[in-house]
Amino acid sequence: MDEQPIAIKTLTIDGKEVGARSGDTILQVAQEHGIWIPTLCFLDGLTAYGSCRICMVELEGNNRLFPACVTKVYEGMVVIIHSPRLEHYRRVIVEMLLSERPHICSVCVSNGHCELQTMAQLLGVTSVRYPYLMRKHDVDASNHRFLHDDNRCILCGRCVRVCSEIEGAHTWAFSGRGVESRIVTDLDQPWGESESCTGCSKCVHVCPTGALIEKGRSVAEMAKRRQFLPYLTVMRKEDAE
Ligand code: FES
Repeated sequence: MDEQPIAIKTLTIDGKEVGARSGDTILQVAQEHGIWIPTLCFLDGLTAYGSCRICMVELEGNNRLFPACVTKVYEGMVVIIHSPRLEHYRRVIVEMLLSERPHICSVCVSNGHCELQTMAQLLGVTSVRYPYLMRKHDVDASNHRFLHDDNRCILCGRCVRVCSEIEGAHTWAFSGRGVESRIVTDLDQPWGESESCTGCSKCVHVCPTGALIEKGRSVAEMAKRRQFLPYLTVMRKEDAE
């Protein structure tokens, strides 16, 4: 069968004209051209999920905002990444995440290695203007190697995706709705009793915060290692070809 030629699109991102393949997302194209768009739920190597909304951009001629990680490019698209409106919304998102659960960096094992903390710094979030919910979430320490602290979770779903898409174990899933949302293992069994978990630690290392960590780490000691993900994705593609 003849291969379909890849259509090339030309678009503009923050005034810079760039080329893209049809089917590419705005985020893919921006990253290929060294243009930074903030992301939290996105992780290269996993299916884009579009949940955190921090990557919102404006498209000229359209009043809506679009998530760059799941919006496909088209010919002549004019993308705006920096505007007072976008900067305002991005800060609001980070402030809401910080106010929803007790993200107290000074006592967190991921202090200094946390993507939410880094994002707050990059966006200039120095205080939170919303009332803190301060709901108390349980900590699941039943696994002998890892710990799950829902108080630090931002519901990005990276653990759910890496566990199903890369490890194939399907241990993690979402449960509940709205502020009741949580990630759970094996239909809400304690992690230590999970029969599907292989103990691979991929979920721990893709987690952007201190929600999933290795036991035995003290404050600021839990640096994550994510380098395995693009490598595994490439190897899988090569195997499939
Ligand atoms: Fe695009 Fe989260 S990075 S919605």
